[in-house]
Amino acid sequence: MAYISDEVIEEIRRHFDLVEVVSFYIDLKKVGKNFVGFCPFHSEKTPSFTVSPEKQIFHCFGCQTGGNLFSFIMQMEDCSFPDAVRLLAQRAGITVEPPPSTPAEKLKVQARESLQEMYSLAQKYYQALLWRSPQGKEVLTYLQRRGLNKQSILEFQLGYAGNNWQGLTGELRKRGYDLQIALTGGLLGKSSTGRYYDYFRERLIFPIWDSRGRVVAFGGRILGPGEPKYLNSPESPLFNKSRTLYGFHLALPHIRREKKALLVEGYMDVILLHQHGIREAVAPLGTALTEKQLSLLRGRLDKILLVFDADEGGETAVLRGLELFKNEGCRVEVAQLPPGLDPADYIKERGGEVFRSEIMGSARSLTDYRLHAIKKGFDLAGEEGRIGYWKEARRVLLEIQEALEREEYLKKIAGEIDVALEVLRGDLENIKKGSFPEERAKGKKVQAQEERKKFSLKELVERELLSCVLHNPRYLDQLKKLEINAEKFTEEPYREIAATVFQLEQQGKEISAAALASYFSDPEMHKLIVSMALPDNDKEDPRVEKIFRDCSKKIRALCWAEERKRLIKSLQNTVSREELSAKLQRIRDLKKWEEELYRSGEGEDFDV
Ligand code: UTP
Ligand code: MN
Repeated sequence: MAYISDEVIEEIRRHFDLVEVVSFYIDLKKVGKNFVGFCPFHSEKTPSFTVSPEKQIFHCFGCQTGGNLFSFIMQMEDCSFPDAVRLLAQRAGITVEPPPSTPAEKLKVQARESLQEMYSLAQKYYQALLWRSPQGKEVLTYLQRRGLNKQSILEFQLGYAGNNWQGLTGELRKRGYDLQIALTGGLLGKSSTGRYYDYFRERLIFPIWDSRGRVVAFGGRILGPGEPKYLNSPESPLFNKSRTLYGFHLALPHIRREKKALLVEGYMDVILLHQHGIREAVAPLGTALTEKQLSLLRGRLDKILLVFDADEGGETAVLRGLELFKNEGCRVEVAQLPPGLDPADYIKERGGEVFRSEIMGSARSLTDYRLHAIKKGFDLAGEEGRIGYWKEARRVLLEIQEALEREEYLKKIAGEIDVALEVLRGDLENIKKGSFPEERAKGKKVQAQEERKKFSLKELVERELLSCVLHNPRYLDQLKKLEINAEKFTEEPYREIAATVFQLEQQGKEISAAALASYFSDPEMHKLIVSMALPDNDKEDPRVEKIFRDCSKKIRALCWAEERKRLIKSLQNTVSREELSAKLQRIRDLKKWEEELYRSGEGEDFDV
C-alpha cells in the first residue's frame, strides 16, 4: 500500500457510511443501536450480521467475520485491499494518486483499463453495425421475429458482428490500442502469420456486463445453423464467468424491491422476460449455476424461482446449491415449461400475464421438484424401482433442515412406495448417524478447545489492553503514564497492532477499530481488530476499567518476569564482575517490583 497515502485511505473511509454501503448489498434492519441482516458470507437462518453505525464496523456473530468498510468490500467484491480502496475512491470521486508503485502493477492496471475501453468501444461498434449496415437490418428482422421490440434491443445493447475479419481490429488499431491486450482480452484472434483478426464474426452480439453495468464480455450467437451456437468471450481480467449473471445490473433494483429473483437459462430468455415486465430475471452464462453467482443474490431474497426446460434432470448441482437459500429462509421453487419451449418462446407466444399465472404460478417447491424428477426415473410398480427411488430420494430428504418439512415428504414417499413410515424414518436416522458420527464431532470440539488454550497469558493480556484502548482511547494515555509503550507488546499480532496504535497516537490521528483496520491489508487482521472492539460495552463500563487495571499490572509483571529470565540465562556468559553484580541487582529489583505489584492488590485476579 505504499502508493495510497494513509490520509487518502482515511478520507475515503470517512466519506462513506458503512450502513449505506452494506445496504447496497444486503437488506439491513435497525435493531437498537445497530443494524442487522443475513450474513452475505455464510449461510444462516437468523440474521447475525451486525453493522455498527457508531463504530463503522461490521461483525457476524455466526461466522465471526468482521471488519471495516474496506474489509467488507474486499470480501464482497472478492478483491485485495488496494483494489477495495481504489473501487471506493472511484465511487467517492476521490483521486488516488500517484498511480501504482511497481512498473509491473502499473502496466496491469493500465492494461485492464485499456481493455475496458476496448470492450465499451466494441459494444458501440457492433451496435452501430446492427442498426446501420444492410446485413444488420436482416439481424434486426430476426430479432423482431423472435419477439424483441426496439426498446429491448437498445436496452440490452445488442449488436451485430459483420462478416469481416478486420472490422473491429481496424477500429482498435486506428485508435492506437495495444492489439496484444485485445487479443488476450478475447476481442481479437491472431493467425499463425502474426496477423490480428476479429474474434466475433457474423454473429448476433449480446454484451455481458459486470454488476456495475460495464461491458466486460460478449456472447455471440450464430445466425444460422452451425457450431458453436454461442461463442463467448474467454475469461479475462475483466470477466469471470462463474461470478457473472447475465442481466444482473438491470435486474438488481427489481430483485431488491421484490425480494425475489427468477433464474432462466438463456440470453434471449432474460431479454424477453424483462420486456414483458418480469424484470427480476437473470441467467447464468451457459454453465451450471455457481456458488459465486448465487452469492450475488444471497441475503436479498424471499424467493427464488428457477425456470427449467421440461427435459432437465432433477439432480443437477444447481439444485443442490439452492438448498443453501432454503436454509436461509428463502423459498426456492422450480417452474417447468411445456416440452420443447423455452421461456423466450413461451412468453413471446402467450405474453407476460400468462407466463406469470401459468408458469410461475404452478411452480413446485424445490424438494417437490427434485423428488418428482427422481421418481420419473423409476418404475414404482416393481419392488426394485421402489427401492431405487427411495435410495435416491432419501439423499434429498437428508439435505432438508426443517424437521417438519422432512416429515411431510417422508409421509408422502411412504405412501408412494407403500412402506411403513417408521421404517423409512429409521433408515434415515441410521444414515444420519453414519454420516455424522457424534464421536467425530466431539473429537473436533476437544481439538478446538486445545487450540484455544495455546494462547499464552501474555497474548491474552496484550489483547485485552488493546481492546480497552479501542473501547476508549483514554486508556492509551493511561498506558503511557504507566510507561507501557509499544515495546511492551511482544506477541504477534498484537505487537504489530500496538505499534500502529502508538504511532497513530503520536501523529494525532483517530484511534478506533475502523480507522486502525485500514493499516492492515490482511482481512484476518480486520476480523481480529473488530472482534477486539466488541462487545458493545458502554465506554464507561466499570468492567472495562477493571480489566484495564488488571491487565496493565499484569503486562508489566510479565515483562519484568521476561527480563528476569533473560538476565538469569545470560549470567553464565557474563565474565566482568561489575556487569555481573549489576545484573544481579537488576534481577533482585525486578523480583521485588513484581512482588510489590501483586501485593498491591488485584494483580492476580486475572483468571485464564
Ligand atoms: P440455448 O441453446 O437455450 O440458447 O442456451 P438461447 O439463449 O435460448 O438462444 P435461442 O433461444 O436459441 O436463440 C442457453 C444458454 O446457454 C449458453 C448461452 O448463455 C445461452 O444463452 N450457451 C449455449 C453457450 O454459452 N454456448 C452454446 O454453445 C450454447
Ligand atoms: Mn432459447
